Amino acid sequence: MSDKNLTRRTFLKLSGGSVAVTAVGIAQPASAAPAAAPDTSHTVLPYPRKPLGTAGQIVQGTPLQFSYPDASSPCLAIKLGVPAPGGVGPNQDIVAYSMMCTHMGCPVAYDAGTNTFKCGCHYSMFDAEKGGQMIAGQATENLPRIHLSYDEKSGRITATGVEGMLYGRQANVL
Ligand code: FES
Repeated sequence: MSDKNLTRRTFLKLSGGSVAVTAVGIAQPASAAPAAAPDTSHTVLPYPRKPLGTAGQIVQGTPLQFSYPDASSPCLAIKLGVPAPGGVGPNQDIVAYSMMCTHMGCPVAYDAGTNTFKCGCHYSMFDAEKGGQMIAGQATENLPRIHLSYDEKSGRITATGVEGMLYGRQANVL
């Protein structure tokens, strides 16, 4: 056997072994496959329940400011004087809305004379008697309405959820 043959044989042995090692290295059990990346575009977290006081404490013309569902989301509870969609209390006229304009997040101001919310940045207007419906301006979305529950026995009103997406968020509950 020549040196040339030995070299070829040695080469074939080595390369065959190398392929076997490589094949073993590539083969992985199915369970070791990388998990799909978690979807962070929305949440399934439940809304908190936040007591706002009693119906008698929310007086027409004197809105109650609070934050919901967390401290960075200012909201306003108002007594309209006329029943409204989602309204609670003895007259179904207590409603609550986010105070962040859906256009670019400026604070909206409540006008008790017209039961509307007005944004001073680009003059969007929202109707508090119609579920926060956008009336005019740059905004394209209604003002998010805060869901309220009402306990007839105690008169207590509790914030329980949000209808619509709060400005600047991918999920209302973070
Ligand atoms: S931020 Fe309210 S209209 Fe632009």
